[in-house]
Amino acid sequence: MKKFLIITGCIAVIVAATSCQRVRRGTGHAYMPDMGYSVAFETYAPSQERLNNYEAHYNSKPVEGTIARGDAFPYKIKNDSAGLLQAVSVTNPLTALDEKDMQEAGRLYLVNCGICHGTKLNGDGPLFKGGDGPFTSKPADLTASKMTEGSMFHVATFGKGMMGSYASQLNTKQRWMVISYIKSKQGGANAGKTNGTPDSLSMNKAKPDSATVAPK
Ligand code: HEC
Repeated sequence: MKKFLIITGCIAVIVAATSCQRVRRGTGHAYMPDMGYSVAFETYAPSQERLNNYEAHYNSKPVEGTIARGDAFPYKIKNDSAGLLQAVSVTNPLTALDEKDMQEAGRLYLVNCGICHGTKLNGDGPLFKGGDGPFTSKPADLTASKMTEGSMFHVATFGKGMMGSYASQLNTKQRWMVISYIKSKQGGANAGKTNGTPDSLSMNKAKPDSATVAPK
């Protein structure tokens, strides 16, 4: 019995000592390697051509002249002094807005412009508050503005003075809608009608009318 234990012990020691020495040079077999290791497609590398061969153009620029869905009016005039002059004669491609669109235009105005220009468009929004607000530059009184729709659109697109561009917040169509809304409030066909001023959306309803700030 003792002998047996010694022999088993020796075998165990030999196995333990030799089992760690085996140098494995093969990687073994991978099951379905294409699933385990995806083929690298380098987006900006020449392998883009390979993708193109598969008719996959996901990294290509849109074809020139492409217009985003729902944005049907490209505006090509540049943001320079010549552009500003050109803009004067640009006409609003949107013909009379129906009530629903005018309502939406009013909403867009309140969300994007009303904070400065005011719900009454008199340039006295909550950010300015007759000079007491945090915005120090007096927003233009849009009711008194003699600007054409084209010029207004140009301003909404590129900004003016302390006013920034609204081209990234509002698409071309939405900007024209806002201009239609402003014009309707300036004494156009819809002047005086409540349509387009969703009262529930008014941001400074409780505020007394401080339209005493003289228009420029
Ligand atoms: C952060 C405040 C602010 C917001 C928001 C703002 N504006 Fe203005 N806006 C101004 C200021 C300030 C001026 C005056 C710029 C100047 O003449 O130097 C101005 C001027 C204008 C003018 C020029 C009017 C004129 O007769 O000179 C138009 C048009 C106009 N804004 C339209 C808009 C529209 C449309 C929006 C919303 C898309 C908007 N603004 C949002 C601050 C703002």
